Amino acid sequence: MKAIVFAQTGGPDVLALADVPKPEPRAGWVLIKNHAIGVNFADTRFRQGTYTVKPKPPDTPGMEVAGVVEAVGDGVTDVRPGMRVAAFTSRAYAEYCVSPAFMAIPLPESVSFVDGAAFLIQVLTAYHALHTMDTTGPGKSVLVHAAAGGVGLAAVQLAKAAGARVFGTVSSDAKAGLAKEAGADAVINYAKDKFADEVLRLTGDRGVDLILDAVGKPTFEEGLRCLAPFGHIVTYGRAGGAPDPLTISALSPKSQKVSAFSLPTLTRGFPDKTRESAERCFALMREGRLKLHISKTYPLAQAAEAHRHLESRESTGKLILLP
Ligand SMILES: NC(=O)c1ccc[n+]([C@@H]2O[C@H](COP(=O)([O-])OP(=O)(O)OC[C@H]3O[C@@H](n4cnc5c(N)ncnc54)[C@H](OP(=O)(O)O)[C@@H]3O)[C@@H](O)[C@H]2O)c1
Repeated sequence: MKAIVFAQTGGPDVLALADVPKPEPRAGWVLIKNHAIGVNFADTRFRQGTYTVKPKPPDTPGMEVAGVVEAVGDGVTDVRPGMRVAAFTSRAYAEYCVSPAFMAIPLPESVSFVDGAAFLIQVLTAYHALHTMDTTGPGKSVLVHAAAGGVGLAAVQLAKAAGARVFGTVSSDAKAGLAKEAGADAVINYAKDKFADEVLRLTGDRGVDLILDAVGKPTFEEGLRCLAPFGHIVTYGRAGGAPDPLTISALSPKSQKVSAFSLPTLTRGFPDKTRESAERCFALMREGRLKLHISKTYPLAQAAEAHRHLESRESTGKLILLP
């Protein structure tokens, strides 16, 4: 089968189309014919060798797909050949992939393969940052950094659907329009304005209850400055570099808390909770309260181009590869 392979870590140019053996599902796993493949920021880190999971070159990036189950390994009963699924996997940039059966989520007929491949990682990260790590709801305020990105646009819509007041930060005016369309009450261009000053101004100096921060170094400390008493920063990435170490006592004057979310904690350890939250988000899509923004699709062979676009900070929403 065709797959994207890199023989050494490095820039997007290391990604090349190659012929590799088609994988086989071992006991408890399923083989999926990929119809659409999600591109995630973490894939660019994996390619560079700076992600928590280290590549073993020659290796293949990719963590999520949507497609049709072609075969199942011994002991798999709840997932059958022919089923449409979205799945957490590895080596997804290929024509086929294998996934543990419990990580293959049935895809409703109403959800296309492209939307299915845009759903699992970004939507569920946003959902659990808001609702498992915190208790977002009416009367609460949320600041979403990189609000026009994949997780960002999902977080803005899910926080609005929960009844919260939502602020977003973005690095361009074009992105601001998109975050506004997704429902943000106010959007701050943090390339031009000091976002903490703006948030304090917009909240009458109180600050926000929750900040979703996957930018890191440029935003974390300023985030603490515009966090309300008893407020919470959920960190879940560091697209702009790791923040400086935190002195815990800095949190005590306003009784604040900082936590770190990682989706694999959920998907590997809590499959029932993962499925339940996916069903809840699929329902929001059916109701038109959650729309996935697919900004660009690329043929599989152009994976390097997709990575370049994601790393350029020009991309919005989700990028998809089509095998
Ligand atoms: N913890 C988890 O389990 C988990 C799961 C999924 C994603 N994540 C993390 O969530 C973040 C968003 O992921 P995504 O796939 O949805 O990507 P994305 O938000 O679509 O793209 C990354 C965005 O980060 C912002 N950014 C800020 N500084 C940047 C820099 N120096 N270089 C590149 N981008 C920068 C950019 O938005 P602006 O230009 O508007 O600043 C950029 O568009 C990533 O950090 C990712 O690693 C974590």
